[in-house]
Amino acid sequence: MAEVVIVDSPETGGAIAADLVERLVRVRPGAVLGLATGSSPLPLWRALAGRGLDLSWVRGFALDEYLGLPPGHPESYRAVLEREVVVPLGLDPERVRVPGQGLEGAGLAGAGEDYEGRLAAAGGVDLQVLGIGRTGHLGFNEPGSSFASRTRVKLLAELTRRDNARFFGGDVDRVPTHCITQGIGTILEARRLVLLAWGEDKAEALAAAVEGPLTASVPASAIQLHPEVTVIADEAAASRLANAAYYRESWARRPDWAR
Ligand code: GLP
Repeated sequence: MAEVVIVDSPETGGAIAADLVERLVRVRPGAVLGLATGSSPLPLWRALAGRGLDLSWVRGFALDEYLGLPPGHPESYRAVLEREVVVPLGLDPERVRVPGQGLEGAGLAGAGEDYEGRLAAAGGVDLQVLGIGRTGHLGFNEPGSSFASRTRVKLLAELTRRDNARFFGGDVDRVPTHCITQGIGTILEARRLVLLAWGEDKAEALAAAVEGPLTASVPASAIQLHPEVTVIADEAAASRLANAAYYRESWARRPDWAR
């Protein structure tokens, strides 16, 4: 079962997630971080940036990327990561990869395999940061994604495109239709997963992911198969969790050595 931490605010949750990253990087300066974009990880990036750590040896692998945006487009996940993670945290941009990077047209046919090869060569992801979409997606693994899926090109779900239209001037027609995303099978190979969720909008998807049946219809339910998962949610996102009382007690009474 995932460890579920229910917090009073995204800021508190971001600080707890930053503790996990800081602990990792202190023992492994060249740790491999799995980077998620979106609003969910922002409190983590803010908390980490304030700690004055030297993260210049960290290697980063993005979860996903849009296809079809011109290079350098400000909403490409490469650009978003530069702006929200690489610069504020002082990562080395050369050590950060995005799936499909530098590939287009027919070159994209081998992009999934290329990315998997790079992940493997880096020794795999030590800690994967995750948000969750309202469709129950992880990365861009929309409902129906196999738990065994690997990095590949996917069509975005309509709901995801509508949710992400806010980054494209509110115009859903400007949101790309396709993406390349790490698969659920790829994500499950990270040594640790940290899933962040804030706000009422995420409550249903989070409850289905943490407590619902394992199903490709809720790709995030695959986290139940992973032995090292920390879910950090604010009260609103946690509001549909049936076992919330147990999670709260478990966190409050965690042993000293786990603090
Ligand atoms: C996006 C991203 C995911 C992200 C999710 C939630 O479309 N592809 O990686 O986790 O949807 O986004 P947010 O954190 O902004 O709510």
